[in-house]
Amino acid sequence: MQQLEVNIVADRKLIAVIGATGSQGGGLARAILSDPAGAFACRAITRNPSNEKAQALASKGAEVVKADLDDVAGLEEAFAGAYGAYCVTNFWEHFSGEKEKEQAKNMAVAAKTAGVKHVIWSTLEDTRKLMAPDDKRMPFLQEKYRVPHFDAKAESDAYFAGLPVTFLVTSFYWDNLYAFGLGPKKADDGSYRWVLPMGDKRLAGIAAEDIGKAAYGIFKAGSKYIGKTVGIAGEFLTLAQMAGSLSKGLGVRVNYQAVAPDAYRGFGFPGADELGNMFQVYRDFEKEVVGARSVETARALNPQLLTFEQWLTKYKSKIPL
Ligand SMILES: NC(=O)c1ccc[n+]([C@@H]2O[C@H](COP(=O)([O-])OP(=O)(O)OC[C@H]3O[C@@H](n4cnc5c(N)ncnc54)[C@H](OP(=O)(O)O)[C@@H]3O)[C@@H](O)[C@H]2O)c1
Repeated sequence: MQQLEVNIVADRKLIAVIGATGSQGGGLARAILSDPAGAFACRAITRNPSNEKAQALASKGAEVVKADLDDVAGLEEAFAGAYGAYCVTNFWEHFSGEKEKEQAKNMAVAAKTAGVKHVIWSTLEDTRKLMAPDDKRMPFLQEKYRVPHFDAKAESDAYFAGLPVTFLVTSFYWDNLYAFGLGPKKADDGSYRWVLPMGDKRLAGIAAEDIGKAAYGIFKAGSKYIGKTVGIAGEFLTLAQMAGSLSKGLGVRVNYQAVAPDAYRGFGFPGADELGNMFQVYRDFEKEVVGARSVETARALNPQLLTFEQWLTKYKSKIPL
């Protein structure tokens, strides 16, 4: 019996998961690990194997391997023997488009060296293509980007282009409402104000956990999505619609207040200019952003895909009031 189990494990295709201790990679790692009869095994990559999140994955059967996105040789070792690799960068750790590109390149080089058969690169669109270079509606940031964490990922697509890759275009995490300080704030009259520069346009949103689940669906589909760009969302909703759901779900009055992108950029918190530009892209190019993502595809890849209200029911206790 023991021998049989070992063989079953050995027969599984190994997926090396960058960011396994985070939202996207964590969702994928948990999807693999919660399907023990499935065809895949999980190698969780982290800079700190002893951390709690890595250990939680290890206790569910993940192999935990140490590597750093700044070190190609370490990534090559971490990808060695893997059938698949999930590649994601964390812009918000350094706020630098150039660093994000270096780290993406390191992963692409390592995936090539290791002979990985299927890479998923978590990317976003190049927002510069939506506007003429002399368009003055929003500033350039870091000299050459409109939305650095979008544009640098899009530029990085080129590093992965020669590989058996799926470009996964993700959406705004609804989890930003509790994890990123982007939730409604209490006003003096006891109601909550949700201030964002989105006008009356729809935001392409998703439960963060569903990104990893969709990635699992992409790996499970074999070669179907190799060489393809797959855009996913959970729902496209206006902020007024979301505020309505928040009021109902949280039992408080949440009023969405649209502000001008310039005002938002001026709020002064770290990344306000970046997020101001991002929301303005979502607002001014609603058709293009929504058109690049599909709820149907996301649901086909992950039948458990949550709507905003389902997400709210599950996570509302995390939203600080
Ligand atoms: N928030 C949103 O709405 C949203 C929407 C679309 C796309 N994104 C993109 O998602 C990305 C972040 O992904 P996430 O939300 O899953 O991240 P997260 O939850 O913040 O976790 C970051 C993960 O990246 C890993 N990591 C960071 N730097 C690393 C390095 N140098 N070497 C190895 N691992 C490293 C961390 O691993 P260890 O700390 O364990 O080493 C951790 O697992 C960002 O680039 C962002 O632009 C975000």
